[in-house]
Amino acid sequence: EDQVIPKSLTKYKEIISTLPQENGWKFAQPLCLYQGFWLTPNYLEGIMFAHENFKPQPDDIFLCSAMKTGTTWLKALAFATVTRTLNSSNPLLYKNPHDCIPFLDKDYIKNPIIQNTKPRVPLWSTHVLYSSLPKSVINSDCKIVYICRDPKDSFVSLWHFTNKLSSQYNIGKISLQEAFELYCNGCSVYGPYWDHVLSYWKASQEWPNRVLFLKYEEMVKDAGFYLKKLADFMGFSFSLEEEREGAVDKIVEFCSFENLSNLEVNKMGKHRPDEKGGFDNNMYFRKGEIGDWKNTLTLEMGARLDKIMEDKLRGSGLIF
Ligand code: A3P
Repeated sequence: EDQVIPKSLTKYKEIISTLPQENGWKFAQPLCLYQGFWLTPNYLEGIMFAHENFKPQPDDIFLCSAMKTGTTWLKALAFATVTRTLNSSNPLLYKNPHDCIPFLDKDYIKNPIIQNTKPRVPLWSTHVLYSSLPKSVINSDCKIVYICRDPKDSFVSLWHFTNKLSSQYNIGKISLQEAFELYCNGCSVYGPYWDHVLSYWKASQEWPNRVLFLKYEEMVKDAGFYLKKLADFMGFSFSLEEEREGAVDKIVEFCSFENLSNLEVNKMGKHRPDEKGGFDNNMYFRKGEIGDWKNTLTLEMGARLDKIMEDKLRGSGLIF
């Protein structure tokens, strides 16, 4: 296994060097177009490696999302549901949710042998489009959970996040206008956003028992309902007794923006603490509000993005 990585990396680098390139918002340079979406070379290597080597376990569950659509929240909810006990030994108390669940796009290439933690938690996460999941996952019966969010809020969240990263690494910031223009042209990390959403939407329409499609806004409004739905879907339903004892509310409460963002690890700790370049966990928690885009974008910009989404999603049955 050790030798697989360097050999294939050379091959991936060669493929990547031939891909079309675009401006990656200063921080994620360059963005390369691969299988219809934009991503940086280092992540593409991880994804190509997963395409060639990854084999899911039959009970694996994949948590999928575009950037800045509620991934952190979904990971926390799913992890808390699968592990159930929120006592002091639960990793969510001392690790950022992203450090509790292996990230297929990046973690797998680094450690292809140990697929998961012990005791095994059958969760994986990825940001790739449905069509770019490894074939072994697409052809399996593994459950897939997708979360999406109003692109206006997601864009604003991404812009803030990218610029925070840029300042941590002393790279220049990108202006709102420039980032917005790129985003509207589909040019963002794991973008175009509309293709991302559509890929999972179509899969969820075709295989509703295998692909659960969630919207951030709906979950915010009724987290308990969606947590139960998520638990049922993943095969970790809450028993009547658990419900009577308030297990659903406890998890919702634990995973709330308020609670998670105030945990010591998320205020002071680092994501990927063992790595050079790990960044502050608090960057994953900004406001967690619906409609915050109005504080950053003009109404015209909002309308432009709405119109793009409307055009791209027309006929799909999906609306934002
Ligand atoms: P804002 O930047 O609008 O505040 P992701 O987790 O996919 O990176 O998305 C990040 C967005 O989700 C950020 O949005 C962040 O504040 C919000 N978020 C993080 N944790 C959350 C939680 N527990 N509940 C709701 N929203 C959360």
